Amino acid sequence: MARTPIIAGNWKMNKTPDEAVAFVRELSPKLAERSQVDRVVAPTFLALPAVAAALGGSPVKVAAQNAHWQAYGAYTSQISVEMLAPYVDYIIIGHSECRAYLNESDENVNRKAQAILAADINPIIAVGESLAQNEAGETLPFVRAQVTAALKGIAPQDMPRVVIAYEPIWAIGTGKSASGALAEHIIKTAVRDTLAGLFGRDIAEAVRVQYGGSVKPANMEEYMTQPNIDGALVGGASLDVEDFAALIAIAARSKGP
Ligand code: 13P
Repeated sequence: MARTPIIAGNWKMNKTPDEAVAFVRELSPKLAERSQVDRVVAPTFLALPAVAAALGGSPVKVAAQNAHWQAYGAYTSQISVEMLAPYVDYIIIGHSECRAYLNESDENVNRKAQAILAADINPIIAVGESLAQNEAGETLPFVRAQVTAALKGIAPQDMPRVVIAYEPIWAIGTGKSASGALAEHIIKTAVRDTLAGLFGRDIAEAVRVQYGGSVKPANMEEYMTQPNIDGALVGGASLDVEDFAALIAIAARSKGP
């Protein structure tokens, strides 16, 4: 099945609202002709309304970097899916930095996934093992367990809207990337085959799976030529207009018709 590639820039805690708007104004025309690739930027919460307004009518879509599963209430510092809904098409959940610094648990990732799908938004669910787990040979069972827990109770018909991002923690922001072959192996055996076990092969083949971790223009093709890798979740290189546009161009070329 042909899956539309999806490249998302996770800006993390970078760019003020003014900087974010200036960035997307420069970026958007460079991506206009890449309609064979879904193009997404994920600014901070604070910049979302301004970025969404600046991109109005542009094919470049907006993601939030997190959300709370409750609609409103006494949850100091949190922002609900409903509050984000006017501005975003995607919401990233389960990022390893949220798991590490904000105590994001598998259970909460699952609650968030359910709330996001119920609001007709698309979750990008990040999974991935630590260096210690990788070195102990625990990668495959750990990633399988993360995928399974995140998707508990999700209706099969909602699954094609789900994006999974496999991001080995040891490759994030370190310049140490997984080889294309290794990323393909883990995505195939720990993500796609797990999806097939949970939802059946047809649905598993419809779900898009990204690789993330030190993706750059120089290594992008290595990932985009793998059959089970449908795009990338990009940190550092997404903060540079030329680099991000280059990543999208490589995806379009490698995955295009
Ligand atoms: P880098 O591309 O900076 O390694 O970050 C990856 C990431 O965490 C994207 O979510």
